[in-house]
Amino acid sequence: MVIDHFLAQCTAHPPIIVVATVDSPTDGVSLARALQVAGIHFLEITLRTNAGLEAIHQIRREVSGLCTGAGTLRSPDEITQAVAAGAEFLVSPGATPVLLKHASKLDVPYLPGIATISEALSAREMGYRLLKFFPADLSGGAAFLDHLKSVMPDLNFCPTGGVNTNNLAEYLMLSNVVCVGGSWIAPAELIQRGDWSAITARATATIAIASGLPR
Ligand code: 3PG
Repeated sequence: MVIDHFLAQCTAHPPIIVVATVDSPTDGVSLARALQVAGIHFLEITLRTNAGLEAIHQIRREVSGLCTGAGTLRSPDEITQAVAAGAEFLVSPGATPVLLKHASKLDVPYLPGIATISEALSAREMGYRLLKFFPADLSGGAAFLDHLKSVMPDLNFCPTGGVNTNNLAEYLMLSNVVCVGGSWIAPAELIQRGDWSAITARATATIAIASGLPR
């Protein structure tokens, strides 16, 4: 299954998905390089701007070694466009039956978003085993995922929303959390300012925390 390969990458590399919104493909490529220098493996470019799809395309063409995905996918069309742009994984903030069905036909890992137990069960019924937990901070945080361990031990989660260097350890210490995601490494203001060295520094600091955890 394609998700098994993604899960293996979470073990082999820093379990961090950098979620970024870019205003131009050029910014996307510069960002990807700044992250790669620090050792980041996963980059999720959101489709919140018109530049998102072309940024994914150019990063795939110009930067090797990163796993570049597409995020904020809200419709089957956006999923199709993201795959065509070369996205190596796909993420939605939520999950409707239409999205779950559409993505199940693809050969690309898809992380549907859930915030409740019923949503997690719906995704599980469709065969999904790795779910985005969003918005993690407002939906019960690490304590919520800890409860899910006994209820649905076969599910893995990627919490995002309010994750940062102060709380990522709480999440990554949970056995059902395989990676965490968020914008704290590459927030919009640093991207817009082109402060790539600050982004590299944030990525390095985050990886240092994650690699110090027993996993
Ligand atoms: C996402 O799409 O995963 C979120 O926007 C990330 O949330 P954050 O900005 O609070 O990290």
